[in-house]
Amino acid sequence: MALLEIRNVTRRFGDFKAVDDVSFDIESGEFFTLLGPSGCGKTTILRMIAGFGDPDEGIILLDGEPLTGTPPERRPVHTVFQSYALFPHMTVSGNIAFPLEMAGRSRGEIRRRVAQAVALVPLEEKGGNYPHELSDGHKASYPRARPHQPTAPAAARLRSAAAPGAVAHVDGNQGTLATAR
Ligand SMILES: Nc1ncnc2c1ncn2[C@@H]1O[C@H](COP(=O)(O)OP(=O)(O)OP(=O)(O)O)[C@@H](O)[C@H]1O
Ligand SMILES: [Mg+2]
Repeated sequence: MALLEIRNVTRRFGDFKAVDDVSFDIESGEFFTLLGPSGCGKTTILRMIAGFGDPDEGIILLDGEPLTGTPPERRPVHTVFQSYALFPHMTVSGNIAFPLEMAGRSRGEIRRRVAQAVALVPLEEKGGNYPHELSDGHKASYPRARPHQPTAPAAARLRSAAAPGAVAHVDGNQGTLATAR
């Protein structure tokens, strides 16, 4: 069974079909890139995976379970946007810790996971820096540290911000999915 299954998904905005009967599977550990011309529905698909709008037809399954009806904050899926959405008043470590704090994780776990995340990116030496003190490359690595171990594919909008090996550079716009298990 695939980790993520998009089955016959259609999404309409009024009479307009933004996504028309799309199906694909993503296996656990697979690096998957969604390519297509502007307006073909890539972002709309990523948004549905993340929980921002459900399909009008079809179904999205994660580990065999339908995601429909599960709100974004309850989905083990993380979206990384092209704009980094960093809190300017928080350090690198603070920004990475923030979603874990919101999720009510213990201080010990947050400390451990922040340390793992900055090592992974790597940004160990910049943990105490604020966003304005980072290079563009460092800022680009940062969103990858933030989701930190989601269990499902991460929807990325990194474009030129993508560090080599992090996600694929796509069509000058966006549409990259990187499994993050
Ligand atoms: N909220 C909305 N209301 C109405 N139409 C929408 C909405 N969101 C997207 N669309 C339309 O749906 C189509 C698909 O949009 P989407 O943003 O998914 O395209 P995309 O493949 O990501 O394009 P791009 O490569 O330009 O980012 C477009 O025609 C867009 O105008
Ligand atoms: Mg798009």
